[in-house]
Amino acid sequence: MIYFAPLQGYTEAFYRRAHHTVIGGVDEYVTPFIRLEKNELRLKDLRELKNTVRNPPNTVPQVLVKSPDELETLLVPIEKKGYTKVDLNFGCPFPKVTQHGYGAGILPFPNAVKSVLSALSNYPQIKFSVKMRIGLNSADELPPLIPLLNDAPLRHITVHPRLGKQQYSGDLDMETFRFFVQNSVHPVIYNGDIQTAEDAAPYHDVMIGRGLLANPLLGLEIKEGTIDTASRLTLLMAFHKALVVELQDIEQPLPKLKTVWDYFLPNAEPHLRKKLLKSRTMDDYLAIVPSVIESSITI
Ligand SMILES: Cc1cc2nc3c(=O)[nH]c(=O)nc-3n(C[C@H](O)[C@H](O)[C@H](O)COP(=O)(O)O)c2cc1C
Repeated sequence: MIYFAPLQGYTEAFYRRAHHTVIGGVDEYVTPFIRLEKNELRLKDLRELKNTVRNPPNTVPQVLVKSPDELETLLVPIEKKGYTKVDLNFGCPFPKVTQHGYGAGILPFPNAVKSVLSALSNYPQIKFSVKMRIGLNSADELPPLIPLLNDAPLRHITVHPRLGKQQYSGDLDMETFRFFVQNSVHPVIYNGDIQTAEDAAPYHDVMIGRGLLANPLLGLEIKEGTIDTASRLTLLMAFHKALVVELQDIEQPLPKLKTVWDYFLPNAEPHLRKKLLKSRTMDDYLAIVPSVIESSITI
């Protein structure tokens, strides 16, 4: 199975829909985390959730909670929108999040982890999963969590084998990853730095973030093998067109589209890419997109 990792600011609803409709090759899309603000779901998050019709059918909302009460509050609107699967974020490394005990900030506190996990059995209608790091400051935080995770009703656990304090770079701790796989009763999904089909080959189940943003065809390539140049070009053009269509009703689509290029097609011709990012109008932008996409393929 291939999971599209949640990336706040990138894999938003418009992006997931365009990807699912035009390209696919991904079994599930996990949404960027949804959280409470002043005890309520943020309007922005609610809009993003839309409903199961507007989102790809294989969308799994992710929540950032540190208590059963917060979980309960978030599950109400999520269920109302028709979702039946929910992912718990125990991995976000941002200090603003972790210092309040959220994301990877919950990992040093087995009691907090236990209280959230113990609440899951109150919602037998929902299938839960966890996405986590191997610790916040040390991999020593992991062993006490394993029995708690093993006791919880989970579909699977996605592990990004870095510490929270490493953020998104630095060595991957594969030894600890293997230790976790050996000791978990739940299926474990590998996540971290997968850029190519070869990188994914050792794993049965993978979650991919930046690698899919850079090459949205990666899921297809992993599942079906190499894609010829002509088909790559057609698919990437159609994908970009779908992004534009998805954004047609928003006031400022151009900044949103430019953000896609933070990760998209990193090997495109640098001066064309620069020109694209400098474009001031949608017309200028759209005029240059085909040459940038083409340059990423022929280079
Ligand atoms: C900009 C950015 C935003 C992210 N937002 C989330 C998020 O909302 N929830 C989450 O669980 N992980 C989030 N992540 C982590 C990714 O899902 C993923 O675990 C990480 O990027 C490692 O996988 P990759 O190397 O395949 O990208 C984010 C990562 C980045 C770079």
